[in-house]
Amino acid sequence: MIQIAILGLGTVGTGVAKVVAENKRQIERKLGEPLEVKTVLVRHFKDGLYRQLMTNDFQKIENDPEIRVVVETIGGVEAAYEYTRRALEAGKHVVTANKQLVAEHGCELLELAKRKNVSYLFEASVGGGIPILHPLTQCMAANRIDEIYGILNGTTNYILTRMVRAGATFQDALREAQEKGYAEADPTADVEGIDAGRKICILGDLAFGRQMDPEAVPMEGICKLSLQDVKIAQRAGYRIKLLGRAVRLPGSGRTAYVAPHLIPEDNPIANVEDVFNAVMVRGNATGDVMFYGKGAGELPTASACVADVMECLQASPRRDEIGWDGGTEGFADPLSLKSRHYFRIAGSLADAAAVFGQVEVLSENGETAFLTEAVSGQEAAQLSQSLKVLACMRVLA
Ligand code: HSE
Repeated sequence: MIQIAILGLGTVGTGVAKVVAENKRQIERKLGEPLEVKTVLVRHFKDGLYRQLMTNDFQKIENDPEIRVVVETIGGVEAAYEYTRRALEAGKHVVTANKQLVAEHGCELLELAKRKNVSYLFEASVGGGIPILHPLTQCMAANRIDEIYGILNGTTNYILTRMVRAGATFQDALREAQEKGYAEADPTADVEGIDAGRKICILGDLAFGRQMDPEAVPMEGICKLSLQDVKIAQRAGYRIKLLGRAVRLPGSGRTAYVAPHLIPEDNPIANVEDVFNAVMVRGNATGDVMFYGKGAGELPTASACVADVMECLQASPRRDEIGWDGGTEGFADPLSLKSRHYFRIAGSLADAAAVFGQVEVLSENGETAFLTEAVSGQEAAQLSQSLKVLACMRVLA
């Protein structure tokens, strides 16, 4: 019998307990022995299925030699960081879906795990149920990764889909996403692009082998997005999606950011709807590889956590391929990246052309919506200073 502990019994923690119970037979067949949740750390005791397993004392887990893996689903940084460190120090494997903790302290926690000869795995921290980190670091290991971009937040993609397809209001769509267990405890992190930002940092860390400081990564969400722009873009053959993007630059440089983009409708990412996420990875040998699936929710996220639990227990000796350097040097401002830009201005085509020269007009109706030629973010910002800009977004090439 292999015993594990779960820290926190929210959406993901409950999902982990459910997957362990419901898929008991398959898990046992693969591990060679049964897997059981022995202890669940909670702040407040609640009646229900897991009442007998609950404790509010982490020492009971830390000092229990029978517990081999700790699944951290508390979220946030403070308690989660402390308990993760202590569990690793105590020689236990740790598995998590906590993207904030991994984005901010992943490098350090991986080093600690290595010193203690245990694993720290976090497949569920990016893309929910989509296998992306293991394929990126293992199956694509022979590639130089040049770019990763994708829809990395299920809540905002769900909100956009509901607003565009069903005419739901932003608030109603957000409430539905919360009810379905997609949104973060504080959904500001979803709608302001911070959650997607943490995930693109983790992807960039692993792809480029060096720390992406989340503080240095510009993150813009969907709060300023107008349905008017969505409709103009659609008529012109584009979809608007919130993308996280990390790009390798010449030399050892790299950059990353999160922002809404216009995406040509023939790009498969353009048609990713609801809670689904999709991540495109560009390897120099593979070309573009796309990963697609449910990016949030109880069971998809739990599936990735439990698979990591099984991997910790099976990987002997422990695999070392996951990790990155702690240095943050070489990170460049993403404004240096060139792309076409979408603008909607309170002004005429002549105003737009006077500033940007050749433009492609998408709509003229008192206001003018147009696409520029490829320019850097700095050029777009500088050139548009004399215009009354109502909306501005990058266009994905
Ligand atoms: N709030 C996150 C999302 C959960 O909506 O994608 C999964 O990380």
